[in-house]
Amino acid sequence: MVRVVRATQVEIETAVQTLRDGELVAFPTETVYGLGANAQNPAAVRKIFAAKGRPVDHPVIVHLDSPRFLHRWVREVPEPANKLAERFWPGPLTMVLPRAANVHDVVTGGQDTVAIRVPSHPMAQQLLTAFGGGIAAPSANRYGKLSPTRAEHVRDELGDAVKIILDGGECQIGLESTIVTVEGSSVRLLRPGAVTAGQIRTVIGELLIGANLESPRVPGSTPSHYAPTTPMTVVPAGEIDAHAASLSEGGRRVAVLAQRLPLKSHKYVTWINAGRRPEQFGHDLYANLRTLDKAGCQQILVQDVPEGEKWDAIRDRLLRAASSISESGESGAMAVLP
Ligand code: TXA
Ligand code: MG
Repeated sequence: MVRVVRATQVEIETAVQTLRDGELVAFPTETVYGLGANAQNPAAVRKIFAAKGRPVDHPVIVHLDSPRFLHRWVREVPEPANKLAERFWPGPLTMVLPRAANVHDVVTGGQDTVAIRVPSHPMAQQLLTAFGGGIAAPSANRYGKLSPTRAEHVRDELGDAVKIILDGGECQIGLESTIVTVEGSSVRLLRPGAVTAGQIRTVIGELLIGANLESPRVPGSTPSHYAPTTPMTVVPAGEIDAHAASLSEGGRRVAVLAQRLPLKSHKYVTWINAGRRPEQFGHDLYANLRTLDKAGCQQILVQDVPEGEKWDAIRDRLLRAASSISESGESGAMAVLP
């Protein structure tokens, strides 16, 4: 049976023992909930893939409580990685670095690199410090689905596959970490997140954007990722009411995620006004999409988000989650990255 606990020190110790026993523990981070296993136990890490229904060649992030054990996982730490660690760890940044020889292939997907993150969430810190090693953890959702931002999302989706869920409340950021790959002096952004491209540039100067052709297994590069079950379309801001109205008038039940209230109400429309502030919008995004997914609608419409770096991570996730994008005459489809 799965147990949902608020972590006292005793409960943290139980979670640590569970990890040592080769079982899975879901835990909160400031981004999303992670599905954790002892990164040094390949059989335990394989359970993550089984629980998620995830292809076995997808690498997972190793979480550490501080950079002090980095050398156990990473062969060499390029200079830009030191600077980024100094500035952004603990926090929502993941770095893909040259792997140390003893890191298991099931963690790296057989690649020559390993992804490392030092989360700041106090409960994640408590768990990692008590465990004393690396915890391999992808987001604690079924493969391709929305990441969990609350303990109950994990329980609803993974149930008994996970032995313990540590409940740290709602994740503060709500979107997965920024991922960069660091090779020598060059740094490349693979997945936008709360640490923005601009913030990274202020620390290291040049930042390459997006995966290059040699980049292996880019995050969320499969056709549908971070996705609700209901078909989802991203609609230009000025056209959201008209779209909802025409579908509703045709008798279709429609769920809308917008940044304002509807101009007028429609019988078959469930409308969430998620507001215009990117931090709040991002914090609520997955919970809102889960709510709309359960609203019994045939279509989810999402209002296109504004230009600007603070919306990059949100824009990226919406594009990956969308089954289609409605292009308008004037503004066109959203771009993944600037
Ligand atoms: O915020 C986050 O990053 C959350 C929390 C739990 O830390 N984790 C997370 O993990 O989002 P996951 O597995 O859902 O997404 C990590 C992405 C995957 O798409 C994976 O393919 C990519 O990072 N990745 C992991 N190791 C990699 C590597 N060595 N090279 C390239 N991509 C890698
Ligand atoms: Mg994920």
